[in-house]
Amino acid sequence: MPGPASPARIAPSLLAADFARLGEEVRAVERAGADWLHLDIMDGHFVPNISFGPGLVRALRKHTALPFDVHLMIAPADPYLAAFAEAGAAVITVHPEAGPHLHRTLQTIRALGCRAGVALNPATPVAALAHVLDLCDLILVMSVNPGFGGQSFLGGQLPKIAELRRMIAATGRDIALEVDGGVTAETAPRCLAAGADTLVAGTAVFGAANYAAAMSTLRGG
Ligand code: DX5
Ligand code: ZN
Repeated sequence: MPGPASPARIAPSLLAADFARLGEEVRAVERAGADWLHLDIMDGHFVPNISFGPGLVRALRKHTALPFDVHLMIAPADPYLAAFAEAGAAVITVHPEAGPHLHRTLQTIRALGCRAGVALNPATPVAALAHVLDLCDLILVMSVNPGFGGQSFLGGQLPKIAELRRMIAATGRDIALEVDGGVTAETAPRCLAAGADTLVAGTAVFGAANYAAAMSTLRGG
């Protein structure tokens, strides 16, 4: 039965990087041992902030070999899936609230050659993805309300992580279980103990003086 990966996968969130030096920042986290690059796409409508779009993702693609973990906080998401796939996404994650047909959206992501993820907001129950698990390659648990980096970790999401780990184990499939928001040296061990295998970290990596040391701390030293 597949369990959490060891050591944890770290996906630095570019949202906390220096936007005036993105190419350099991406190369720096890759050199420092990042596993994936987490790209937060915000539309000012689904979430109260605007970040960047597929053009930027495409431009970054030639600066790194890291898999692109694209987190869509946009509604609707369907009209933009192909653009993010073509821009070089490895995983595309959507929120169930972003459209009326989650099942079809996940099918579309896979048909585009990407792995498909579902993100659960703090108030979204696990039941929202119970009937699409066969189409999920990744589950993202939001441990803050989406829209901004640098927020405080919501500890009430830990039981959700544990419940999802049990659901994933019951499938017998290797579905990544990712936590996003407020992941720090203090909260990372709690996420890992609950069963997460992938940690998104913006501030905790890009806000640190030494990216490699920060990621090694998050992995558990
Ligand atoms: C929030 C984003 C996160 C964010 C995490 O909506 O999905 O990926 O960048 O930032 P930190 O790690 O600073 O909480
Ligand atoms: Zn994110």
